[in-house]
Amino acid sequence: MSKKVLVLPGDGIGPEIVAEARKVLETINLQMSLGLELSEALVGGAAIDATGIPLPEATLNAAKQADAILLGAVGGPQWDSNPDFQIRPEKGLLGIRSQLGLFGNLRPAILYPQLAHASTLKPDVVSGLDILIVRELTGGIYFGQPRGYRTKENGVREGFNTYVYDENEIRRIGRVAFEAARARGKKLCSVDKANVLEVTVLWREVMNELHAEYPDVELSHMYVDNAAMQLVRAPKQFDVVVTGNMFGDILSDAAAMLTGSIGMLPSASLDVDNKGMYEPCHGSAPDIAGQGIANPLATILSAAMMLRYSLNAGEAADRIESAVSKVLDQNLRTSDIMSEGMRRVSTSEMGDAVVAALAE
Ligand code: IPM
Ligand code: MG
Repeated sequence: MSKKVLVLPGDGIGPEIVAEARKVLETINLQMSLGLELSEALVGGAAIDATGIPLPEATLNAAKQADAILLGAVGGPQWDSNPDFQIRPEKGLLGIRSQLGLFGNLRPAILYPQLAHASTLKPDVVSGLDILIVRELTGGIYFGQPRGYRTKENGVREGFNTYVYDENEIRRIGRVAFEAARARGKKLCSVDKANVLEVTVLWREVMNELHAEYPDVELSHMYVDNAAMQLVRAPKQFDVVVTGNMFGDILSDAAAMLTGSIGMLPSASLDVDNKGMYEPCHGSAPDIAGQGIANPLATILSAAMMLRYSLNAGEAADRIESAVSKVLDQNLRTSDIMSEGMRRVSTSEMGDAVVAALAE
């Protein structure tokens, strides 16, 4: 039975890194007769340039019909000055997340032992690191109403957003996190700002209520400012971290750097049936776009997550992950993870090396 994969290259380095992930997917597809059918569509700035809007109807429909979606990245300075937020590239990404109900965002930060020296933190602080950030992705301050930008009667401009969660949204992401914790180290840390924000007082209450259903999981709570500090002080204290949309956005970038480079961090965004979109956690990096130096591994690892979670091809995912490990063993490094004694390779050389490792 064929499975439809929609590929959305997006902007900046998006097309370059997605091209490498496609090579890897096409190789594993042939090797294991997975029956994947890949097609592409426009999103973000690329879609604005071609159609005037960041999420064209055709892309949204293709996304709805696909079994899984692989996305590069969106955004760039040429679209940032548009005062109409609806015409920003990021709206394309946020639109797919919310229209498809992709509320459960899994961001695993795993340190490949070969990269212990690529992290800006001391090797003993990060070696063996394996944490999972579970970020709520379709609610919170990213989507809360009212929101806006206006000039008040006295002529003073103001911007405003609303940080809101109802208990059902919290329970739904809480379950994803408790289940994930149950399947790994059985420790869950819920991150909030319950000393200041009512919405996170409710968040904490609901997490405590859910805990009754998961007595085998150890639950702790941490304020987000402390969590940011603990992530760089002693990151290995964490197993699974669950938090809201904005805190998760911030903490997952910090967690990414523990693994050597944000260029290594994949992610999955899942709906209630595990249908999902897969993307690297890094952005479109317009400053290095087109130079062939971006690290494609986060996107390749996202493709592996896609095979595992949405396409029922766990063995293919394992093979891709071990191919990535092999190329790191061969001392191949893109610039972001380069260190002494290693061989610097381009984006496409890295993709080719993963393909070659798959063939072994
Ligand atoms: C991420 C990104 C997005 C977000 C942007 C591009 C809208 O930073 O996936 O972490 O804020 O969610
Ligand atoms: Mg982010």
